[in-house]
Amino acid sequence: MKYNQKNNLPHDVLKGKQLAMIFAKSSTRTRVSFEVGINQLGGQALFLSQNDLQLGRGESIEDTAKVLSRYVDGIMIRTFKQSDVEELAKHSDVPVINGLTDFSHPCQILADLMTIREYLTVLEGKTVAWVGDGNNVCNSLIVGAATCGMKIRVATPVGYEPDPSAVERVGDALRLTNDPKEAVTGADVVFTDVWTSMGQEGEAKERLEIFAPYQVNDELMSLAKPEAMVQHCLPAHKGEEISESVFNAHAGEIYDEAENRMHVQKAIMAMLMKSGEQVGVKPFALEKTA
Ligand code: CP
Ligand code: NVA
Repeated sequence: MKYNQKNNLPHDVLKGKQLAMIFAKSSTRTRVSFEVGINQLGGQALFLSQNDLQLGRGESIEDTAKVLSRYVDGIMIRTFKQSDVEELAKHSDVPVINGLTDFSHPCQILADLMTIREYLTVLEGKTVAWVGDGNNVCNSLIVGAATCGMKIRVATPVGYEPDPSAVERVGDALRLTNDPKEAVTGADVVFTDVWTSMGQEGEAKERLEIFAPYQVNDELMSLAKPEAMVQHCLPAHKGEEISESVFNAHAGEIYDEAENRMHVQKAIMAMLMKSGEQVGVKPFALEKTA
C-alpha cells in the first residue's frame, strides 16, 4: 500500500465500497487516515458521531449493526467498551474494525510494528519497553509484539498494570515491572502514551502525580540501546509522559508511525472489504519504502 501510494500506482481495490465510521470519542489520526485511506482505494467513508446516531439515544447495537450492514461494506468504530465492538461485530453482516476502545487499539499497533520493521528491518528478537500507563495501546502492543516474536517489558505504577487478559495471552515474552529503568535498559524501542486516556479526564490531576516518575526523558533514554527508537501513538503531552527533548530527537519516527496508520488501515480494509477478484495490489516491498 505504501509503495503504491508513494509511486502513484493505481490500487483502487475498494472501488464503490462504503465504510461507516462511528466515533464515540475524539480522533485526528484514526478518522483522517481511514477516510483518506478508503478514498485512495476508490471507496468512500461516512463519519458518524455516536451522538448524532440513534445509537446515542438508546437504539440497540444489534439494530444498528443490522441496518448499517444493509447500507455499507464495512464499519469502523471507536468507542468505550470493548464489549460494544464485539456486540456490533456479532450482529453485523459486514466486517467491523476496532478503531480504539478502553481495552485495545489494534490498528495503532499494526502501524507501530510496520514502523519498527521499516527502521530495524526485523521484529523477531527485538526488545520493546513500554513506560507509563498499562492502557489500551499497551494491551495491544503486548499481544502484537509477542505475536511477532518480540520481547516486551512494561513499567507502570502499581495499580496501573495492563489488562490481565492481554498479559495472560503472551507468557514469557513479557516482563512486568514498576521500575522504568529496568524496562528501558538495553531496549531497541521505547513506547509511551498519555497518562490520562479519553474517558479518564476526571482522574487527570491524580494521574499527573502518580506517573511523574515515568516520564520518558533523556536520562531514561540513556539506558536504552544508543540507536533505540521511540514510538508514541499521539496525541502527546510533551513535558508529561515524554520530554520535549526526547520527542524532538525522535520526531521523525513518531510522525512515520502516524503516517503508517493510513497504509496499514488501507491494507486492513482491502483484506476485509475487497470482493473476490480485486486482489491485485502489489506486494509490500520493504526495501523500497524504508
Ligand atoms: N493515535 C490515534 O489513534 O490518534 P487519534 O486519537 O487522533 O485517532
Ligand atoms: N490511550 C489513548 C490513546 C489515544 C490514541 C486514549 O485512549 O486516549
